[in-house]
Amino acid sequence: MATQNILLLPGDGIGPEVMAEVRRVLAVIEARGVLSLSIDEGLVGGAAYDAHGVAVSDGDVEKAKAADAVLLGAVGGPKWDGVPYEHRPEAGLLRLRKDLELFANLRPAICYPALADSSALKRELVDGLDLMIVRELTGGVYFGEPKEITDLPNGQKRAVDTQVYETYEIERIAKVAFELARVRGGRVTSAEKRNVMKSGLLWNQVVTAIHKSGGYEDVKLDHMLADALGMQLVRAPKEFDVIVTDNLFGDILSDVASMLTGSLGMLPSASLGAEDENGRRKSLYEPVHGSAPDIAGKGIANPLAMIASLAMALKYSLGKPDVADLLDKAISETLGEGLRTGDIWSEGMTKVGTTEMGSAVAKKFEALLGA
Ligand code: IPM
Ligand code: MG
Repeated sequence: MATQNILLLPGDGIGPEVMAEVRRVLAVIEARGVLSLSIDEGLVGGAAYDAHGVAVSDGDVEKAKAADAVLLGAVGGPKWDGVPYEHRPEAGLLRLRKDLELFANLRPAICYPALADSSALKRELVDGLDLMIVRELTGGVYFGEPKEITDLPNGQKRAVDTQVYETYEIERIAKVAFELARVRGGRVTSAEKRNVMKSGLLWNQVVTAIHKSGGYEDVKLDHMLADALGMQLVRAPKEFDVIVTDNLFGDILSDVASMLTGSLGMLPSASLGAEDENGRRKSLYEPVHGSAPDIAGKGIANPLAMIASLAMALKYSLGKPDVADLLDKAISETLGEGLRTGDIWSEGMTKVGTTEMGSAVAKKFEALLGA
């Protein structure tokens, strides 16, 4: 069995705590001979800044490039509010996305039946929800130049961010969305602001063109203005299958989608690059939630999004989709038994900490893997 290289970047805040639970699951995977793994660890975010004075070191970026899968916890926290903008913790994550060319960010929003009552929406609106946001991750206003604050002669300042997309960037993310839709519900909704933004107009045109010329007409394509889609997401989220959108709209809409599922603590994500000639692609997996500095170090963080991110890695990078399904099942069954961290706790459920939740999932997963 070929050894797969995994790089763990726990990061800041609750990152190290939830990553410890991933290690627990990885230990089961190794002990059961599911995969042969070589596991390395690096620093990102404030943790990297404290150690090296940068938000991610060149050495760790090289390790990430060489890894079969990178798992990242979370970055940021008030401790680093005062560091120079280019070294802020988020810059480490953005550099990894850019340097590894992870242009496709997959953010599934699945409402586990056991959690339908934790959603801010009524149960009937979210029970059984299963949608996928495909967010463009290496372009748009996040990386467009110029990006600056300049001084004006009148003593005022002027800030510029640049929203920019080229045809190839829209084409490749649209293809990812269409291909995913094919193995899901067969529908793609493209969200853009074609009524206000030139980049929205081009986005609309390119997605429409590739739908036709790329041979994706078996997939149903709709376009929606991004603001209207935000409204529709909280009105009737189950109407969506795959949503494809740009970097900034995807950032916002995925936070909205995550709350539909009951807690930000539940959602994993995969960031993928293009496939190379060997069918291998660079990849990074991280929970959608942040570093939650307010609860860091207390042992109460929800590790499920981080563990579900490992499930995505098993599926998209490590060639074990069947094992990924078992890990997702272990999460679902653990919730079914009433175990809850504080963020998803409700009356009558058993409140547990990070370690108890992680151990319960690992144990169930081990049982599901069979004797
Ligand atoms: C996310 C986060 C990041 C983003 C931050 C931490 C830079 O909000 O992954 O959604 O804006 O992309
Ligand atoms: Mg975000």
